[in-house]
Amino acid sequence: MRNAAIMGYGVVGSGVFELLRDSDVLVKKLGRHISVKKVLDLRSFPGDIVEPFLTHEPDEILNDDSITIVVETMGGLNPAYEYTKQALSSGKHVITSNKELVSVHGSELLSIANENNSRYLFEASVGGGIPIIRALKHTLLSEEVSQITGILNGTTNYILTQMYSLGLSFADTLRQAQELGFAEREPSSDIEGFDASRKLAILLSLCVNKQVNYSRIPTEGISQLTYADFICASKYGSVIKLIGRGDIKDGVIEAIVAPFLVQSGASILAEVGDVYNAITITSSMSDDNTFYGKGAGKLPTAGAIVGDIADILTGNLETVEWGADEAEMAEPTDAIYSWMVRATATKEKIHAAARGLLDDSYFFEPGIENQTSFVTLPLKHGDFLSLLTNLRSEGVTIENTLRIFADR
Ligand code: HSE
Repeated sequence: MRNAAIMGYGVVGSGVFELLRDSDVLVKKLGRHISVKKVLDLRSFPGDIVEPFLTHEPDEILNDDSITIVVETMGGLNPAYEYTKQALSSGKHVITSNKELVSVHGSELLSIANENNSRYLFEASVGGGIPIIRALKHTLLSEEVSQITGILNGTTNYILTQMYSLGLSFADTLRQAQELGFAEREPSSDIEGFDASRKLAILLSLCVNKQVNYSRIPTEGISQLTYADFICASKYGSVIKLIGRGDIKDGVIEAIVAPFLVQSGASILAEVGDVYNAITITSSMSDDNTFYGKGAGKLPTAGAIVGDIADILTGNLETVEWGADEAEMAEPTDAIYSWMVRATATKEKIHAAARGLLDDSYFFEPGIENQTSFVTLPLKHGDFLSLLTNLRSEGVTIENTLRIFADR
């Protein structure tokens, strides 16, 4: 019999509590029993099944030698960082869904775990219920990974799907997603893309065995998108998806999180809707492997945590670490993309202002009155910005610009 504690009784923590209370599953499948001894939260939950287990004192968990497994579902850097360090240093295993903590302090925490014969496991931090960390670790045993691409955030994928299918504004769709519990009350890390860049940073850190600083990943969110963008995208046979992408070449990473136009049929990512995530690992021998599943939500994420617990209970002691050195990142200005531009101006005016950079074949009808749209050739970021400057200087109003997703 092992004792566990849960730090943070929010959506995911309460899901883990539910699953572990019904630990018959683990007993039947693994012949191991685990019992939740304490649950830490600042709040009280009168009448809730958690009440007898609840504590407001972290030391009741951290100083209790009978608790050997700590599930950290608090989120955020502090105090989760201190609690995790203390737990790992005293030989407890820590299992987390906290992508912010793993992406910022992963290297240090993994090293403390290894020094203390404990384990720091974080399957639930990326892709919710998708076993992507396991798959990536397995791939890395024998192959080089050259690219990670995916839809890494369930909330924004749900919002984009709803905006497109219901023709709603961003603000209305976000409000609806919050009412249904799909989006947080404070949604900025999801909608501005940081949640996805943290997850991408974790996957890339594993690939290059160095710390990838998520704040160095150029990140754009979805809050500036309007329904007009979706109309225009559909005229180009595309949908809009928030995509995280990291290319690794000679140890240097070129990464981005941004909304892209994805042509139907050009990528499996165009078909991924609602809270689903899909992540493709491109590797030297297996080429592309895409993992698809529920990327957010109470039970998928709690299930990933219980999977990590099962690893500990069965004595699977495979360790993972990445170094403290910072990974080398390519200059964002060198990134090459084709762009879709939607502008209020006639095609003739845009032609003239582009000074020979665009011919007729790049234009298409955006389906919006008085507007014109076109797709550029693949351009370096600086050249694209020069094109926009030329257009603006001739009185062309740029309504929006979006990158076109293409396999490389
Ligand atoms: N807020 C995250 C998402 C939760 O929407 O994907 C899962 O990490």
